[in-house]
Amino acid sequence: MNITVINGTEKHGITYQLKEIFLTAFRDNANITEYYLPKDCPGFCTGCTNCILKGETTCKDAEYIRKIEKSLLEADLIVMTTPTYVYHATGAMKALLDHFAYRWMPHRPAPEMFGKRAVIITQCLGAGAKSAAKDIKHSLSWWGISNIGVFTCAVMSDIVWENLPEKRRAQLSGKLKKLAQKFVKINYTKPAYTNLITKLKFSACRMMQQASHKNDPEYLDGKYWAEQGWLGKTRPWKQAHNQ
Ligand SMILES: Cc1cc2nc3c(=O)[nH]c(=O)nc-3n(C[C@H](O)[C@H](O)[C@H](O)COP(=O)(O)O)c2cc1C
Repeated sequence: MNITVINGTEKHGITYQLKEIFLTAFRDNANITEYYLPKDCPGFCTGCTNCILKGETTCKDAEYIRKIEKSLLEADLIVMTTPTYVYHATGAMKALLDHFAYRWMPHRPAPEMFGKRAVIITQCLGAGAKSAAKDIKHSLSWWGISNIGVFTCAVMSDIVWENLPEKRRAQLSGKLKKLAQKFVKINYTKPAYTNLITKLKFSACRMMQQASHKNDPEYLDGKYWAEQGWLGKTRPWKQAHNQ
């Protein structure tokens, strides 16, 4: 199986340790590709909207985005991690998510995403890890992913893993290993189940795309939906099952 990990920091701090514990259960049987931000996607979205209006290859950061996207599309499991910075995901993680706005369902979601599983790992010192996880989950769910595991942690004592009390480290490891077991057991030859909320979001976007495609058949998003067959009877969660 393939796992793609996007780390919202380059620091090998507590978030890194939590991610390493989670991945331990997969090490023997998975190809794991990791990206570290901001190194692997250093540019900010400048709001040029070229990705949406002219195509994703016209983005000034296309070289970075294409590479990460290819890896995400090839992954059976996507792992996203971030420490909490001022109650949210890191700016580097947000910058990456902004670059994938064109993959949100109201634009040009990738059909492969509807069959994927993802895990989000966030941590903070006192408060905000849930809010940071929500920042990431929001994007993943709008990319079309329904099956998302979330692990949030408030270390409450120190910002260095080795300085955390032994008991606390064991407790966190136990919880992460339990989550890892849940994801290790999955039969990844079968795509994930698409939930009702995702299907409803898709339906609403489909109505919007039907109208915009009728109004302007050259508009990129509408053309993409038509080419995918989504303005007809084809659905991305069925495409994911047929791949
Ligand atoms: C810029 C910045 C903002 C932070 N904001 C919060 C916060 O809102 N809530 C919190 O509990 N901890 C906050 N922290 C603490 C970090 O979440 C904490 O130190 C964490 O362990 C850092 O993760 P790392 O060890 O993986 O680098 C912040 C740290 C930094 C550097």
